[in-house]
Amino acid sequence: MEPMRFGIVGCGGIAQIHADSLDVLASEGLAVLVAGAETHEGRAKEFSERWGVPVHGSLAELLARDDIDAVAVCTPSGLHGDETIEIARSGRHILCEKPGDVVASKVAEGVRVAKEKGVVFGGIFQQRYTAGALKVKKAVDEGYFGHITFVHCETPWLREQGYYDSGDWRGTWALDCGVLSNQGPHMVDRLLWLGGDVDDVIAATCETRDRKIEAETVAVATIRLVNGALGTITGTTLAYPGLAQRVLICGSEGSAAFVGDDLVSFATKRPFEYEPPADILPHARPEKVDADGRAAKPLGMSSDMHAANYRNFVTSVRAGKRPLVTGEDQYRVCRTLNLIYKRAGVGPYASM
Ligand SMILES: NC(=O)c1ccc[n+]([C@@H]2O[C@H](COP(=O)([O-])OP(=O)(O)OC[C@H]3O[C@@H](n4cnc5c(N)ncnc54)[C@H](O)[C@@H]3O)[C@@H](O)[C@H]2O)c1
Repeated sequence: MEPMRFGIVGCGGIAQIHADSLDVLASEGLAVLVAGAETHEGRAKEFSERWGVPVHGSLAELLARDDIDAVAVCTPSGLHGDETIEIARSGRHILCEKPGDVVASKVAEGVRVAKEKGVVFGGIFQQRYTAGALKVKKAVDEGYFGHITFVHCETPWLREQGYYDSGDWRGTWALDCGVLSNQGPHMVDRLLWLGGDVDDVIAATCETRDRKIEAETVAVATIRLVNGALGTITGTTLAYPGLAQRVLICGSEGSAAFVGDDLVSFATKRPFEYEPPADILPHARPEKVDADGRAAKPLGMSSDMHAANYRNFVTSVRAGKRPLVTGEDQYRVCRTLNLIYKRAGVGPYASM
């Protein structure tokens, strides 16, 4: 089969990890990077020279090409929803960076249009692609955790003012929001994916402090899940020097704890046998992976997990299966974040 031909819209920081992942997939004959789209001239030139592909000035120009099968969305978060819809309308598959958008209804519309057009809307939540996370998912789904009782996630990271000043979209309500929407979504996704959907946020406080940005630098939400479990979603970008993220998933018959991507504790009442799924992790990662390098450095990561996310997307589209991360998953996270802001009465969400 011919490799899936990708375009990337937004050729800034994370796009480099995407291009690197596509290099890996090209070596496996699965996918190839064909072109980019970027509005900033300097970054467009740099990306074109580094990756040896043409870079257009807009998504519309990229979509006017006749050699693109799928587009990866790597622009500021508040553009993701509209771009996803535009890509779906053009009949191309979408692989959208987290978060799906900053407004959940736009993600929902992307899901709807993708279905209507018969294209696949997949997402990037690369931290699902570890043996530890997949092990807990299987155990929970097969009932080894009993009923879920308590869940927790935290992102105690550090982002200096210089990080926020590096892009005029950072920390704005329209294009980014604060710590929960930019740094937190991977852990919010892990909590929802493993623990269950949020029913309501029964208390939340968000406060802007210590950085010159519009949105929150500290957030604490107490949540109730649809399955009745209670828990917390917390995060800050003011935790010197930047600590590892943590997640707890506790049930009546089993519990798990993650520090970064390491599964540091796993216990079930009934013995649980586990082999990492070869179709999702063909290059099986050990259960223990490196400590979270992004606690103080925004792009302090290897492209391994993004490559796994891409591999699963491409092979799933080919096989006519749902990828591990879907547009619906991105909607679920975005809806939860919007609800937290609404209950906290902050940003434009207070009146939504
Ligand atoms: N999965 C992860 O771990 C991870 C890590 C970092 C960032 N991200 C996500 O990736 C997205 C981008 O983050 P970043 O740090 O790379 O930002 P960035 O500012 O470095 O890159 C975004 C690029 O998009 C370009 N752009 C803006 N508007 C555009 C438009 N209309 N058309 C084409 N290009 C446009 C900008 O000029 C910029 O070069 C964000 O949504 C962020 O949440 C994900």
